[in-house]
Amino acid sequence: MKFTYYGHSCFLLEISGKKLLFDPFITPNPLAAAIDVGAIAADYILISHGHHDHIADAVMFQQQTGATVIANWEICEWLKKQGIEQVHPMNIGGWRKFDFSGENIVGESVIIAMTTALHSSSFPDGSYAGCAGGFLIESEEEAFYYSGDTALTMDMKLIPEKFSHIDAAALPIGNNFTMDAFDAAKAAEFVRCDTVIGVHYNTFGYIEIDTERAAKEFSDRGKTLLLPAIGETLNL
Ligand code: NI
Ligand code: MN
Repeated sequence: MKFTYYGHSCFLLEISGKKLLFDPFITPNPLAAAIDVGAIAADYILISHGHHDHIADAVMFQQQTGATVIANWEICEWLKKQGIEQVHPMNIGGWRKFDFSGENIVGESVIIAMTTALHSSSFPDGSYAGCAGGFLIESEEEAFYYSGDTALTMDMKLIPEKFSHIDAAALPIGNNFTMDAFDAAKAAEFVRCDTVIGVHYNTFGYIEIDTERAAKEFSDRGKTLLLPAIGETLNL
């Protein structure tokens, strides 16, 4: 799978021939000003919760890409009110097989599950956005976990009980609103994943961190923390 970082908690995951855009937030982020937003294509847009720094570009990217938005019920209803009909509502604890068949791939189904997050969630106008969540993506060959904004939670231990080995995970490391790197490294242990991409850090003052120290929290536990530059693509 391929991971392209667009800053904050926004990234594109390419898996089983499809492009999944997570938590679209690029145009309000000055650190991501060099990203060519118009060149981004997606088959699915996945939204973890309703906060501005995860949803700001959702409508724009859905219109640009024609992607199906996967999010909780409340976020899907909010999008429908803005004219976005192509949504797939889910909620925490649920999973579903999505047909990833394409030009070169026939009969490929990928499981997308919505996982628990311990975090608040509301829309930019303060209205209710349902529960904050995360996502587990499991193809026949590999699996990826994005926790969303969350505290460290024991619920993470349940994820590898049900799904296959997680090859890579995107976890927040910025502290203040979410886990710090210490807790994120613990989360990597809970979900039994050795390769973590750090997100939700250094975007603004509250979440500025010492990245060398963050990397050490992971290496101390025998795990790898990857911190791609904004615009960089990793082959995982
Ligand atoms: Ni949040
Ligand atoms: Mn956030």
